[in-house]
Formats: sequence, C-alpha cells, structure tokens
Amino acid sequence: MSNPGSEPFVPRLLPSYGRKRGKKLKPRKAELWQNLLPQMLYDGKPRPSLHLEIGYGSGEYLAQKAKLYPERNYIGCEVYENGIATMLSHIEKNNLKNVQLYTEDARLLLQSLPAQSVAGADILFADPWPKRKHNKRRIINPDTLDLLSKLMPSGAPLFLATDHYEYLQWIMVQMMAREDFIWDGNWRTPPADYVMTRYEAKARADGNNDIHYLQFVRA
Ligand SMILES: C[S@@+](CC[C@H](N)C(=O)[O-])C[C@H]1O[C@@H](n2cnc3c(N)ncnc32)[C@H](O)[C@@H]1O
Repeated sequence: MSNPGSEPFVPRLLPSYGRKRGKKLKPRKAELWQNLLPQMLYDGKPRPSLHLEIGYGSGEYLAQKAKLYPERNYIGCEVYENGIATMLSHIEKNNLKNVQLYTEDARLLLQSLPAQSVAGADILFADPWPKRKHNKRRIINPDTLDLLSKLMPSGAPLFLATDHYEYLQWIMVQMMAREDFIWDGNWRTPPADYVMTRYEAKARADGNNDIHYLQFVRA
C-alpha cells in the first residue's frame, strides 16, 4: 500500500535511446525550440486518422509523410533535442498543420492513448543496442508490441526497418511469435511512398546496403 499522497508505483522504463542532448542548438533552432515547440507539442486531444512515428530522428520521413497525407494526423515521438529542433525547421518550412510532437519516451504516449486509436505506426532504424547485455533496451519488444496491438485496429499498418542483421533476426522472432500482426512476406522493397531517412542514407553511404523493410498489418 502506498502512503497517502505518494505516487503509485510505476516500473521504470529502461531507456531505448542513446542520448537526449547533443551539440548546443544553433540560434535559429534555439529560437524554434523556444517559440514553435510549445505550439507543436501533443495536446492529448483525440484526432482521427492518427499515425505515429516513433524515433523520427531528424524528421525528414515524418515531414514528408505529413506533407503527402494532409488528411492524416501525425504524432512524431523523439527525445533527442537536436532531432526535435530539426523537425521544427521542417514544420516551419513546410507549414505543416497535421503534426504534433511528443518529446518524452514514446512508450509513455503508447500507454496513454485510447485503444484502437492509432491508424498506423512506423519505427525506422530503431537503436539496435548490439551488445547482448543491452538487448533489453530494444524498443521493439513484447511490451511495446502489446501496447501497439491494443492501439491499432484490424488492418492498421506497422512499418519497421533496420540495417542491423541481428536486430532483424530479433524483430522477426518477436513478430513471428505473435498472431496479432501479419507480415507481407517481403523485406527487400520499401512501400511505394517510402522516404529515405537520414540514418539509412548514412548507412548506405558507409557501404551498408543490407537494409530490411518490414511491413505488417494488425490482424
Ligand atoms: C538510430 S535513430 C534513427 C532515427 C530515424 N528514424 C532515422 O532513420 O534517421 C533512433 C532514434 O530513436 C529515438 N528513440 C529511441 N527510443 C525512443 C523512445 N522510447 N521514444 C522516442 N524516441 C526514441 C532516438 O532518440 C533516436 O533518435
């Protein structure tokens, strides 16, 4: 039993991200952080055709998707300050009205959204946490998938991508063990509306073209 006034016990999430802070923001980005971010933060109101991107990095994929699909409402989740600031520049440049930003651990958002409220979700190049002792930090795990499963109605797409072969095996083991997400059986071809992310561009520039695109739908 908790003491009166104390917080209920909430198990701590192991961070699935590397760092929240990088280089000091340049003046223009610092200004966007100060003035634009407060208007762009997720406000908790229900929205139709809600799509999530978890770990959008610098946001080029998210911005492009929001531009391409003005009828959708996007929530982009990212904790890395420089990435969030770059996303703010995309929002400003493209005058995006259908994106909101969630700047805490995405799993807290997943826990708070109503069941069946997410029409699609993308997790691209999640941190691979290659050392075995860090595997438990991988965001694609049964707990995250259970949350997404609850949030996504039948037919909703879940799109994952990785350039890391061992993480690919991990993902496939997780996904094949489940009956609530169905794989389309292809991992070589991205969806027709795919936009290359910064992480993928860097992987390819470094000579790693072993990129796997995994499309699932909620059963
Ligand atoms: C390897 S980067 C890939 C970024 C981007 N998707 C791309 O392809 O360029 C993974 C990103 O996920 C973010 N991330 C990891 N765990 C997260 C979480 N629980 N909530 C929000 N963002 C997260 C990290 O901060 C990092 O920017």
